[in-house]
Amino acid sequence: MKNKSVLLLLALLFTVKASAVESKLFVDNWLFKLADSTNMSLPNYKDSSWRKLTLPHDWAIEGDFLVTNPSGESGGALPGGIGWYRKHFDINDYSKAKRYYIDFDGVYMNSTVYVNGIELGTRPYGYSSFRYDITKYVRKNGNVVAVKVDNSDQPNSRWYSGCGIYRNVYLVETGNIHVAHWGTFVTASQNGNVNIDVSIDNTCNASEKITVRNSIVDSHGRIISVASSASLVKADTVTVNMQRLSVNNPSLWSVDSPNMYLLRAELLRGKKVVDTYTTKFGFRSFKFDAASGFWLNGKNMKINGVCNHHDLGCLGAAIHKDAIIRKLSILKDMGCNAIRCSHNPPAPELLDACDSLGFIVMDESFDMWHQKKTKNDYARFFDKWFERDLTDLVVRDRNHPSVIMWSIGNEVLEQWNSASADKLTPEQANLILNASHDASSLGGKELSINSKLTRRLADIVKHLDPTRPVTSGCNEPSPDNNLFKSGALDIIGYNYHIGNIKDVPHNFPGKPFIMTESVSALQTRGNYIMPSDTIYKAPKEWWLPYTDPSFMCSAYDNMHASWSSTHEQTWDIVKNTPFVSGQFIWTGWDYIGEPTPYSFPARSSYFGIIDLAGFPKDIYYMYQSEWTSKPVLHLFPHWNWIPGQTIDLWCYYNNADDVELFVNNVSQGVRHKLPHEYHVMWRVKFEPGEVRVVARKNGNIVREQTIHTAGAPDHIRFTADRSSNTHGGLVFVKAEIVDKDDNLCPWADNQIFFNVNGEASIAGVDNGSQTSMERFKANNRKAFFGRCMIVLKTSDTSGEIELTGKAVDLKDGYIKINNISY
Ligand code: GAL
Repeated sequence: MKNKSVLLLLALLFTVKASAVESKLFVDNWLFKLADSTNMSLPNYKDSSWRKLTLPHDWAIEGDFLVTNPSGESGGALPGGIGWYRKHFDINDYSKAKRYYIDFDGVYMNSTVYVNGIELGTRPYGYSSFRYDITKYVRKNGNVVAVKVDNSDQPNSRWYSGCGIYRNVYLVETGNIHVAHWGTFVTASQNGNVNIDVSIDNTCNASEKITVRNSIVDSHGRIISVASSASLVKADTVTVNMQRLSVNNPSLWSVDSPNMYLLRAELLRGKKVVDTYTTKFGFRSFKFDAASGFWLNGKNMKINGVCNHHDLGCLGAAIHKDAIIRKLSILKDMGCNAIRCSHNPPAPELLDACDSLGFIVMDESFDMWHQKKTKNDYARFFDKWFERDLTDLVVRDRNHPSVIMWSIGNEVLEQWNSASADKLTPEQANLILNASHDASSLGGKELSINSKLTRRLADIVKHLDPTRPVTSGCNEPSPDNNLFKSGALDIIGYNYHIGNIKDVPHNFPGKPFIMTESVSALQTRGNYIMPSDTIYKAPKEWWLPYTDPSFMCSAYDNMHASWSSTHEQTWDIVKNTPFVSGQFIWTGWDYIGEPTPYSFPARSSYFGIIDLAGFPKDIYYMYQSEWTSKPVLHLFPHWNWIPGQTIDLWCYYNNADDVELFVNNVSQGVRHKLPHEYHVMWRVKFEPGEVRVVARKNGNIVREQTIHTAGAPDHIRFTADRSSNTHGGLVFVKAEIVDKDDNLCPWADNQIFFNVNGEASIAGVDNGSQTSMERFKANNRKAFFGRCMIVLKTSDTSGEIELTGKAVDLKDGYIKINNISY
């Protein structure tokens, strides 16, 4: 029993965000209206007819895809607009001696917050986390907070942003002397030294002597190091108390063993603890080396990373921990060890999950600086807000062991001296970003204003965090690029331009290098464009339009954008070039918006290794065969074609000498990969029956895979990603159309109607098609190449959940899941 409560305590300790103990989720019983009136900020505004909901919430994901939506297909063709949120609340243990704050993890965008009718401020950047001090404006009963969210000036993003209070909100109560917002900075190195800065906020009008007691707690709940020291904290100021602790033989944080510790900082006035603040951290050391790339804890390794946008597919931008963990876990199984938060501050939950699952993070601030990429983007606010937004990002995130580098921007137009993107559509801007620029637009001998701006941004970061390198995702590989010329980037990072990589040691002597972005291959799960050994560029050149009536791309690794390269080609360079620290592939998951190479009705990306619904595309297994030691044998495509049709069969494998293919038991030959090859291929004639691939090592069969020609669609097969979940959790259920023998019907596109009984509701549906115009919030979905996904959100009551799926001419699908309490 004791063990159980220790475990529970530990689970709680390691899941709470780094915060004062009085920080409470403030997400229930909000009211929402997609409308605008200044009166909506007033305390007694009549809001009884408003929709009641629980945050996080994204109103755009609930809408229809329309060519007329001003976000355009780059923004996902979903609605924008102005929405208001209101919440009535009491503070039961209200005390005049306490301080009250409201913390927002992120509101997209231009949020203005009012408490009891008083305007607290506006925060333009939709990805920043922020706090308001509401002490002066709240009372015990009858408080109202109102939030106006203005995402009406569109387009303002090159991808789907979401709309609303799409991240968590907290109500924070503290004493009048407390640890400041994001008030700890913990640096822990491989040798066990821990530097701790605790910022003490004294809101009283008298100086106080405050003792800071820092305790380090290991994963068993044991205090393994403790120290105290006193600081004189002046009235109305924030004072930093610094301590140095040490831990013997700490368990290091790494991508394979992400060991975490907890710092408990207590503030004592005399003997009384007046505040307690917990911070998760990890011990690790790393370096980027110009010759040998990346080292973690003394071990040379490749950063095998992906870029991801923040949306969670059919859930939109509204964050949910289970969806974030699923997104990362599927990548982890592939062998991926790093995430680039492209191109904006992530949700805190993402970094928590990266800490605990073992991902290296490139934490990125902006997609644009002063010069805009879309008509109404953050560039409008940059001059006024960049310092604050960048500061907040670094101060919020600098305790995460997963965060290994900061990026001060992605493909900012300030790389060149003048680049007027002001009049471009998002599509044109996107293309121009990837075009080559005239050398005369690059800096001369003097440091340009843009190089100075680069220095300014890097200095802000370095001042707040001297422990991590600064980089930027550039798309101008010349050393005359204003960002490189500034000398302020610790790591040279550029996107694509694989032909220039060999010149890096010459162009940037002594500087480490990473491919901040790579690949941009174009794939639709389940669609195979043959002949597969031809490389298709789409569009052929960046300035040409591209059309194809299918609106699909190819699931063989044989299609990519004109500025990019195939997965295999890129990986071969990364793998065989020691000075390349690694890469961040564009992208791990498909995302809503930016449907290159198509335009509407395409409305989500083709770049992902995993589709929007979470189904891996075939290339996933190439990475798994290279990045993990798990046994991999993946033969594709399916085996349902027209008799006599010529079909290319590819196979990814590892841990074997060769592979042999059989069509209806007739050998089609033995193949093995040559150096620099990552798949083998057979070109065969289709005949119904089966294809079987056999992998052998030292002459012995080590693995086999058989694909049968599927018969007529017979029934719906459900597979849930878990058999039970806790209250308010998500369950992801795969729905597949299969024949009577349970073979996937690869061409099936039946409409499936879902019915949920018991303790869950439908949170979203999807099938990974980039052109589906079906709503993400619905009780039905068409299968796409045989599959679709339904996401269930469990209620707050324990009990059973029964999901049924019905489709014309098919037998029902059925599955039972348990909803349990924590
Ligand atoms: C890059 C850009 C990404 C995305 C990608 C598509 O240039 O940084 O945000 O647009 O191109 O290939």
